[in-house]
Amino acid sequence: GNTKPWGGVFDGDTAPLVEKFSESVSYDCRLYTQDVRGSIAHARMLASTGVLTDGEAEQIVAGLEDIQREIAAGTFLFRQDLEDVHMNIERALVERIGDVGRKLHTGRSRNDQVSTDFRLWIREGIDRAERLLGDLQRAFVGRCEADASVILPGYTHLQRAQPVLANHYWLAYCEKFQRDRDRLADCRRRVNQLPLGTAALAGTTMDIDRQHVADALEFEGLVANSLDSSSDRDFAIEYAFALTLVAEHLSTLAEEWILWSTVEFNFIKLPQAYCTGSSIMPQKINPDVMELIRGKTARVVGNLQSLLVLIKGLPLAYNRDLQEDKQRVFDSADTVEACLQLASEVVAGAELQVENINARLERGYLDATTLMEHLIKLGVPQRTAHEIIGNLVATAMKQDVPLAELTLEEFQAAHASLDESVYQVLGVKQAIAAFKSVGSTAPERVAEQVTLWRKRLKT
Ligand code: ARG
Repeated sequence: GNTKPWGGVFDGDTAPLVEKFSESVSYDCRLYTQDVRGSIAHARMLASTGVLTDGEAEQIVAGLEDIQREIAAGTFLFRQDLEDVHMNIERALVERIGDVGRKLHTGRSRNDQVSTDFRLWIREGIDRAERLLGDLQRAFVGRCEADASVILPGYTHLQRAQPVLANHYWLAYCEKFQRDRDRLADCRRRVNQLPLGTAALAGTTMDIDRQHVADALEFEGLVANSLDSSSDRDFAIEYAFALTLVAEHLSTLAEEWILWSTVEFNFIKLPQAYCTGSSIMPQKINPDVMELIRGKTARVVGNLQSLLVLIKGLPLAYNRDLQEDKQRVFDSADTVEACLQLASEVVAGAELQVENINARLERGYLDATTLMEHLIKLGVPQRTAHEIIGNLVATAMKQDVPLAELTLEEFQAAHASLDESVYQVLGVKQAIAAFKSVGSTAPERVAEQVTLWRKRLKT
């Protein structure tokens, strides 16, 4: 016969190549705490409905706790021929407590077991990511006191556009990472539905109490349709997607700060402990951590892509293909968590190169739009004002001077209503002060937002 937990119908052994090919224990062993927790809840539920005696359930619980300790201590031997973490633990239980252990899998399939374990794992992953995102937001907000008066050029198309406060930049990232947190929280609601008790695909004839298990495992509700849940990996893919957007946001930050740390920009100095050198060029201080954060986005995107392709066209219900989900999800979680941790430290430790930023702040006509709006306020239609200021910028460009260095005559030649008051709006400092609108870089608005974020993040 075949000694596998499912071997009854087989009359011979599994091919060794198949064991190696189909095993998942080498990676789903990461689910062992979740698996033990789920099995304990299942066993106690079976006792509550009378399928097991209380004594049997407690024997199972004690055995499982024993196994968990052994795995945690690193002395448990996982066997490839037992396929996955679930059958390894169950077999070890039977070896320890005998026939009572053979009752644990009553009213349960590996299909609902895997889904339950994975949901428990992802739920924790969501909570970890949430905390790490909060830490990163706090790192940004932590900069706001020291950087409060710093003005940076804002870019579109990577061309100088309008001035913005450094704090406006930091809060821009806080907003992105907040949406990521919100997405994870929303995803968590759907992850947090209990599949256990849906069994293989159709449910079970056994007397089970799914709500009992949901309460024990702190699930918000029960998945309603066994056929659906046996085939469903939406929850894992949503999580992978939420992590992918985190990675994309981190990648934008990384790219920006790599650029800002070049000699050409020289806006920011990255903390040296987060840079590395060159084995041939003695002067090099390379932003490797930021480059790797940017680079690792690729694998996170790849994981999401793999998951999406994995489920394409799978008929209901469970298919073995679904076993391929775990490595992709684990990898996205590990990668994004590491990136978040490092990003927080880099953000906290980087120094703006204020002198250098200021030295070139009046280049690139960051105040041109402010001057145009000044002219609009004097009664000139926007399209007309745009053209007039465009001409003035062209004049200034020819002389290679900022707008503030044009003469009153030049302004008046451009438009009769322009007078000395132009000198009250020109220059980056005055341009910043002129902003008003909600959500803008206006100093009062940004200060309000900083206060709000401090409150929100309890810093
Ligand atoms: N290791 C498998 C997985 O992760 C367990 C499920 C196997 N189920 C089955 N019916 N063969 O998907």
